[in-house]
Amino acid sequence: MSGCPFMGRKFQHTFNELSLEDKNGDNSQDGLNKASKGGIIYGDYLQLDKVLDSQVLQSELKGNKIHDEHLFIVTHQAYELWFKQILWELDSVRAIFQNGHVRDERNMLKVVTRIQRITMILKLLVEQFSVLETMTAMDFFEFREYLSPASGFQSLQFRLLENKIGVPEILRVPYNRRHYRDNFKGKENEMLLKSEEEPTLLGLVEAWLERTPGLEEAVFNFWGKLQSNIIKGLEEEFQKAKAKPDSEDKEEQLAELQKQKEVFTALFDEKRHEHLVSKGERRLSYKALKGALMIYFYREEPRFQVPFQLLTSLMDIDVLMTKWRYNHVCMVHRMIGSKAGTGGSSGYHYLRSTVSDRYKVFVDLFNLSTFLIPRDWVPRLNPSVHKFLYTAEYCDSSYFSSEDSD
Ligand code: HEM
Repeated sequence: MSGCPFMGRKFQHTFNELSLEDKNGDNSQDGLNKASKGGIIYGDYLQLDKVLDSQVLQSELKGNKIHDEHLFIVTHQAYELWFKQILWELDSVRAIFQNGHVRDERNMLKVVTRIQRITMILKLLVEQFSVLETMTAMDFFEFREYLSPASGFQSLQFRLLENKIGVPEILRVPYNRRHYRDNFKGKENEMLLKSEEEPTLLGLVEAWLERTPGLEEAVFNFWGKLQSNIIKGLEEEFQKAKAKPDSEDKEEQLAELQKQKEVFTALFDEKRHEHLVSKGERRLSYKALKGALMIYFYREEPRFQVPFQLLTSLMDIDVLMTKWRYNHVCMVHRMIGSKAGTGGSSGYHYLRSTVSDRYKVFVDLFNLSTFLIPRDWVPRLNPSVHKFLYTAEYCDSSYFSSEDSD
């Protein structure tokens, strides 16, 4: 019993109050009555009367009870409960960023822990489809007609999740030429509108990355130094390749170096970056992109270790959401083939088009790997920046103010 939350002090007391007979499971109602005197009991605490009384089979109401509809309902409810927990964690992380509490580095661990918890839940949700897949398409067909027009498309929490992470309206795959919010009325519609207007996780992370210490030209000028090191490094590689005797191999090497040169020229072209942002192909500001690359390169410095973990976990969220979409669409294909959805979309074809980079919020963090360079091209930290990234005592007060945590 040591891992059971109900063995906390209050509950332990309740449990101890039960007679031996009660503990053995006999005369249980009497036991419950005694337990309730000492504190709240399991079923009341979890409001199980509501939760376990909420599986209403439409097939049964229509006088044609279909066994598997129970699984269908419980699976959706389990998903919605986990969506609720994810939103709970996400809102708390957004609040830490929004209140400026992230300026106190100690709160970064809290942020990372909660983001990692979100990724753990998403892993579970990606796998959970396999339970529903024990239902055959024929079994589903038996009760599908009773669901219409209910559809996962009407899941408020799923849309809130997408919006709060940072899926922009403009990048959504069009659905029946209707605005996705038109599926929601009254308060739900207002909640969605609010979630579109509030700062997203992406926006908050962006503002935080823009403050990465070391980007300031006067202090370290990471970007300027990086650019000159890359130009120098590539030039040396060109010279080495050109000095080789003529061969197919040499041509290939020179062509490869030329490609690399173009990639890096594009990286240092801010106007090009803005153009890609306007097309939705890049999502972070230019300054935030610089901050993220700096964290990648100096991830082993103590002060950048937790920020690096955060960037890694943000990519995990994107990966897991993509896997969720993929597993969902595979299941849908198996269940309804290419029939239209109960929510009115083309079904499989619509869902398949959502398994795309359009929905990857932290796409820039993935693409940063394009710009990885040999270790000795990475600008050497000057002693003061190095000390700053290494020790907690040496503090730039503008970056690290000591505000309270949430
Ligand atoms: C037999 C199982 C399922 C089938 C056949 C199915 C079918 C579909 C279809 C056809 C759509 C497209 C919208 C429409 O026209 O209705 C959809 C969307 C959706 N479904 Fe399912 N679904 C199933 C299970 C689930 C489960 C277990 C969840 C968990 C919450 C879920 C959540 C969603 C969500 C969130 C959407 C909106 C996705 C988007 O627009 O990107 N579905 N589903």
